[in-house]
Amino acid sequence: MKLVAPTVELHRSWLESATEWGTFDQEGAAYHLAELNGLDLRDRADFGRWVELLISPERPEGFAPDSNFWLVEDDVYLGAVQLRHYLNSLQLRELFGHIGYGVRPSARGQGLATFMLRAVLWEAAVLGLRRVLVTCREDNAASIGVIRACGGVLENIRPVDDFARGWGMTTPICQFWIETGA
Ligand SMILES: CC(C)(COP(=O)(O)OP(=O)(O)OC[C@H]1O[C@@H](n2cnc3c(N)ncnc32)[C@H](O)[C@@H]1OP(=O)(O)O)[C@@H](O)C(=O)NCCC(=O)NCCS
Repeated sequence: MKLVAPTVELHRSWLESATEWGTFDQEGAAYHLAELNGLDLRDRADFGRWVELLISPERPEGFAPDSNFWLVEDDVYLGAVQLRHYLNSLQLRELFGHIGYGVRPSARGQGLATFMLRAVLWEAAVLGLRRVLVTCREDNAASIGVIRACGGVLENIRPVDDFARGWGMTTPICQFWIETGA
């Protein structure tokens, strides 16, 4: 099991994972790049363009620079993690933090998210980030378990307000900080 850069070779497996999730939006923020560019991820050529966007350092105006990694084992796509290099917007500082991750439903409960978050904390340290903000919904027990297992310290629970609702939040958001060791 390892984290790899996104690759078109995982197209079929990525689609199988999307079917399990019931959405092409399984990667949250990363998927916005596909949406913005009108890409149909069922199509291999479009998927390849999306992969190129994910591994490129170029981002549209206002996006934070990010690094994207996929978790794979034996050429099976298991999940994804995105590291935002800095928090350049209120929504990142308040709601989304430095890191987002997800594991395909059939692979959950085996420690994979914990593995991914630990690995990406090392990437954050390499970037020079001394600590990172990792957030999750107050009712997301699994994600809270992952964050705590990686040393997360809860600093605030942010109530739902109009700003949060505008970003689709319907529950309070836990704001954890994790020291990277940098
Ligand atoms: C949150 C998510 C990434 C967890 O992935 P995972 O690979 O199943 O997590 P892990 O196996 O590493 O579990 C980590 C911890 O959470 C606990 N946990 C897992 N599922 C749980 C659940 N449904 N309820 C309570 N605790 C749970 C595990 O027991 C483990 O704790 P432990 O080490 O003390 O045993 C996964 O459920 C997911 O992709 N959810 C949808 C997307 C999402 O919520 N992303 C995070 C946004 S902040």
